[in-house]
Amino acid sequence: MAAIEFKNVTKKFGNHVVIENINLKIKDGSFTVLVGPSGCGKTTLLRMIAGIGPQTSGQVLIDGNDVTEIAPGKRGVAMVFQNYAIYPTMNVRDNIEFGLKNNKIPKEERDILVKEASEKVGLEEYLDRKPSTLSGGQRQRVALARAMVKKPSVFLMDEPLSNLDAKLRVQMRVELIELHKKLQTTFVYVTHDQVEAMSMADTVILMNNGFIQQIAAPEEIYRNPANLFTARFIGSPAMNIVELNDGIRLGFRPERGILSDEADPKADFSVEGQVVTREMLGRETTYSVRDPQGRTYMVTGLDDPYKVDDKVYLNVSLKHIYFFGKDEQRIYEEDAQQYQACLEALRRGL
Ligand SMILES: Nc1ncnc2c1ncn2[C@@H]1O[C@H](COP(=O)(O)OP(=O)(O)O)[C@@H](O)[C@H]1O
Ligand SMILES: [Mg+2]
Repeated sequence: MAAIEFKNVTKKFGNHVVIENINLKIKDGSFTVLVGPSGCGKTTLLRMIAGIGPQTSGQVLIDGNDVTEIAPGKRGVAMVFQNYAIYPTMNVRDNIEFGLKNNKIPKEERDILVKEASEKVGLEEYLDRKPSTLSGGQRQRVALARAMVKKPSVFLMDEPLSNLDAKLRVQMRVELIELHKKLQTTFVYVTHDQVEAMSMADTVILMNNGFIQQIAAPEEIYRNPANLFTARFIGSPAMNIVELNDGIRLGFRPERGILSDEADPKADFSVEGQVVTREMLGRETTYSVRDPQGRTYMVTGLDDPYKVDDKVYLNVSLKHIYFFGKDEQRIYEEDAQQYQACLEALRRGL
């Protein structure tokens, strides 16, 4: 187990600043997921922990020790990539113990480690098979087992599931959660997929353009986004965002919009519109509704009373409305003066 800390860390490639002065603590034993759009600096951050792409300035600490001068192999970290480089000509056992042989670990110890790791990922029956005879998920487990035999105190994973099909990805997510529980080791997992982040993490670190936007538990980041970027990035369909006056924006989640045939005089936010699309997804239905000004809103619900072209009213109550200021930061109820301005903007309407 190990805690990781970034202190004033900056990373540049030439003049291009990719990470700017990041401060960050990753808790010992946590399942931390770094999430953000492609190109925001996730892999760069992970590589700094691994020691395969050192920071330009600042410090990276593992368990309180500055690891800047410590070689990748001596940091107690193991990395699993999207393109898990398993050797096609070697069987599963040889793949798993490859690194151990290189490190001159004696045969009996290797056997124990391989047995332990293959059991943890459910590959004990497959040790003599060639990778070509395995499914994508099983191959990914070989890569995990190969990382596990090194007994790392930190697992670093860079989009390890993105080559798998949708169904297998869901299954592997559950397996990774279980693996984390069994190993109780720090996991730092990188993905651009917010669903993956939300489903596995105990802590989500949301990044954009080399900056940290928010660090929080999944439910917290969903219910309490700190800024407009977070509000838009987390959740699918995305939060509805509407511009009011004075640069103030209002947001509400699709499941908090209530459709009705009549205007609801008690609703704090209400617009008239027309159903443009209807997606019946089994358990719930997603409508898109367009108002006379051409703004489109997404609304999800368990009921399915409307069809395309129906005229509807969309109503939202204040307790489900988020406000964001000109600077795109959240305006909380505690900021009494600013919040009052938001309520006035809401009263004036669209
Ligand atoms: N070796 C490199 N040389 C120059 N630029 C790089 C290098 N690696 C990454 N970058 C740039 O750094 C930024 C962040 O990249 P990366 O960390 O790979 O993003 P992510 O993993 O979030 O998709 C991108 O703009 C990318 O082009
Ligand atoms: Mg990447």
